[in-house]
Amino acid sequence: MLRILYDDGRLDNMGDSALKKALITGITGQDGSYLTEFLLGKGYEVHGIIRRSSNFNTQRLEHIYVDPHNSGARMKLHYGDLTDASALRKWIDSICPDEVYNLGAQSHVGVSFENPDYTADVVATGALRLLEAVRTHIMTTGRQVKYYQAGSSEMYGATPPPQDESTVFHPRSPYAVSKVAAHWYTVNYREAYGLFACNGILFNHESPRRGENFVTRKITRAVGRIKIGLQKKLFLGNLKASRDWGFAGDYVEAMWLMLQQENPDDYVVATEDSHTVEEFLEEAFGYVNLNWKNHVEIDPRYFRPAEVDNLRGSAAKAKEVLGWAPKVSFKQLVVMMVDSDLEKAKREKVLADNGYIDSHQQP
Ligand SMILES: NC(=O)c1ccc[n+]([C@@H]2O[C@H](COP(=O)([O-])OP(=O)(O)OC[C@H]3O[C@@H](n4cnc5c(N)ncnc54)[C@H](OP(=O)(O)O)[C@@H]3O)[C@@H](O)[C@H]2O)c1
Repeated sequence: MLRILYDDGRLDNMGDSALKKALITGITGQDGSYLTEFLLGKGYEVHGIIRRSSNFNTQRLEHIYVDPHNSGARMKLHYGDLTDASALRKWIDSICPDEVYNLGAQSHVGVSFENPDYTADVVATGALRLLEAVRTHIMTTGRQVKYYQAGSSEMYGATPPPQDESTVFHPRSPYAVSKVAAHWYTVNYREAYGLFACNGILFNHESPRRGENFVTRKITRAVGRIKIGLQKKLFLGNLKASRDWGFAGDYVEAMWLMLQQENPDDYVVATEDSHTVEEFLEEAFGYVNLNWKNHVEIDPRYFRPAEVDNLRGSAAKAKEVLGWAPKVSFKQLVVMMVDSDLEKAKREKVLADNGYIDSHQQP
């Protein structure tokens, strides 16, 4: 067991996890960044697979990045892709992780209708490639490697709430169908090869780091910009859709807890409370004393070929077995996101007023 003595005299009992290595796909995403912070806090060495991109895609990790030339750097990034089986195998063999978190995905439901093949390749076959890399690594080395699969409430699609681990899947988008495939690949590798593989069926979780083309963040970005005078209108699709929205920072703990259990299993992670997009608008605009009805316009472009009306999870199993519970409420989440985007809009305003950016460029 490792104990860390800080300069200020605090003693942190890190337990066995202090010695562990984690490998995360999708480390540059919202959840990847929160999970990395969480695991570093537990003493892990964290390795992340990042995609080669012509622009930097590591903004969400900048605040925790330590130059690898520094011997104390415990987060390491490697180029790879879920479409590249050889790279996945190479990194698993060379890093020898104790835990693998598969968070990488083309994660946008709307985009999955426009890029269905690619979505299936990354989300479904990508999970299979990673499972296979883990399996063959275990077979050749005899090591124990635990695997976490980022499942989604979108898998329930048309099945009415409340949804739990025994609820039948009825996916309504190429993204959701691909997540169902990844879910069953994970179950199959558990049953067929005895892999310690878990599916986390996570309901929507948001944060100030949520991608800007997801509805919650699109709303809070617009609220900040409208309040500060950089934008007037916000274009949205289906306002009646209802989702179970939690805070991403809370949800990454559940991922980790799943891999600390004696046996692998699947868990729903949710707040058990759902709100429509309209209610999110009320809360977010209302917080800064604006009326959303004066700013929101419906653009049919944002309607999906098949909509998902209502997702609300039952997280009883996660509560009972993992001892997990969400800490941030819906209202607190909205306030956190609006506060953050208000600050961002203020900085944008300074840049726009001084001619450094085009103020009309709408996110
Ligand atoms: N947030 C939610 O409400 C929610 C709910 C249920 C399930 N999930 C699932 O949980 C996971 C994390 O969600 P998130 O909100 O953090 O998503 P996100 O912000 O969209 O992050 C997705 C990550 O996947 C990476 N990625 C995309 N294509 C890839 C590829 N071909 N190979 C390797 N990596 C690739 C992205 O890299 P770039 O930065 O280069 O784009 C990014 O790091 C995803 O699998 C998502 O589908 C999310």
